[in-house]
Amino acid sequence: MFIRLSHGLARVRVRYFLKADVSPMSVENQIETFRFTPEELQIDWQDGQTSRLHCVWLRDHCQMPSSRNAQNGQRLMNVTDFPDDLRIEGVTQQANGDLVVAFAPEGHESVFSQAWLLNNCYCLNATFDDRSEAAKTLWDAESFSSLSFTDYQHYCQDERAKRDCLQQVRDHGFALLSGVPCDEGQILEVIRTFGFCRETNYGPLFDVRTVVDPNNLAFSNLGLGCHADNPYRDPVPTVQLLHCLASSTEGGDSILVDGFKAASILRQEAPEHFEQLCRQYLNYRFSDATTELRSRVPMIEVDDRGYVTKVRYNNRSIDTVRLAPESVAAFYQAYRHYAGILERPELKLTFKLRPGDLVVFDNTRVMHARTAFSAGGQRHLQGAYADLDGLYSTLAVLERARNTNELVQGALA
Ligand SMILES: [Fe+2]
Repeated sequence: MFIRLSHGLARVRVRYFLKADVSPMSVENQIETFRFTPEELQIDWQDGQTSRLHCVWLRDHCQMPSSRNAQNGQRLMNVTDFPDDLRIEGVTQQANGDLVVAFAPEGHESVFSQAWLLNNCYCLNATFDDRSEAAKTLWDAESFSSLSFTDYQHYCQDERAKRDCLQQVRDHGFALLSGVPCDEGQILEVIRTFGFCRETNYGPLFDVRTVVDPNNLAFSNLGLGCHADNPYRDPVPTVQLLHCLASSTEGGDSILVDGFKAASILRQEAPEHFEQLCRQYLNYRFSDATTELRSRVPMIEVDDRGYVTKVRYNNRSIDTVRLAPESVAAFYQAYRHYAGILERPELKLTFKLRPGDLVVFDNTRVMHARTAFSAGGQRHLQGAYADLDGLYSTLAVLERARNTNELVQGALA
């Protein structure tokens, strides 16, 4: 049944069932009234909120089969396909609450569900963000009374355990596994549980242990200060894993630091230093006999709202600092300030990896370090890189399955 309106008001109460891609925030909210002009559709929701949806935005977000791929929802049209004089000609409401928007001069009709409109309205919903500091739980050493390791077998066999573990990477920037078989290359199997290996000039994986004439300080028994790996790559690997295969040395403790927390402290203590490190692009570089890697990026990267999205701190890998003469002193003040914060004991989460332990962390956020270790005994970590997109995708699918189950159970209750 259709209710035809023209620049008028409709008052319709319809209950609807949410689909899996609808967040819980929209449960029970419905269209109270709606009205339109050629340029805009306005909706008043039962909870008192109002949506103002522009004509071209509605056309660009048409959900009809002629506009979207049915499997993945990707657009089948381009914005240049719309006529310059596009306008809303009419809006009707179906018995189930869906709105049908008619566009002129195309004569095209788009059906939008209430749930879709509510959850995608740009007036009501903040920017989707799962990467910036605004979406994270920032931490320091005191934030964890004890470190929780997830048993690897449990992680592999129980989807909730995997989901919880990947959520820890997303929210805290790291997660810990135990009981990972101490076999060479096992780390690649772990990566396959959530994403894809990022192979580099070190190969698909790398070994961190004392070697003669190391070409990288990581492959010695020296302590290492806080750093993010490989800022000289573009793009930088966004996930790192370290798997402990042997650990019988004195020392060699692992240290993690929340680089977003450190950046927030820097912003609080000296906003001008924070701004300097966001604004100033630097060259990072790694060079050996067979490799020449370079990037030019800021030490702290922020999004369009000013929230930190990535940090790149690696004192070993900054290439020659080339700045305008008047910027050098200010840069080093800011750089030294941030470096000092990263080395504050209260920010350092220190723990010992034992054979079978594995740490996975967001290499764009969490810095890692280690204490020096004795030449006697064995210390062998295998490392590998992956990327956040695969990890976030696996997590999102697991969360989607959970949301669907909860909604179905709620509907049956
Ligand atoms: Fe490292």
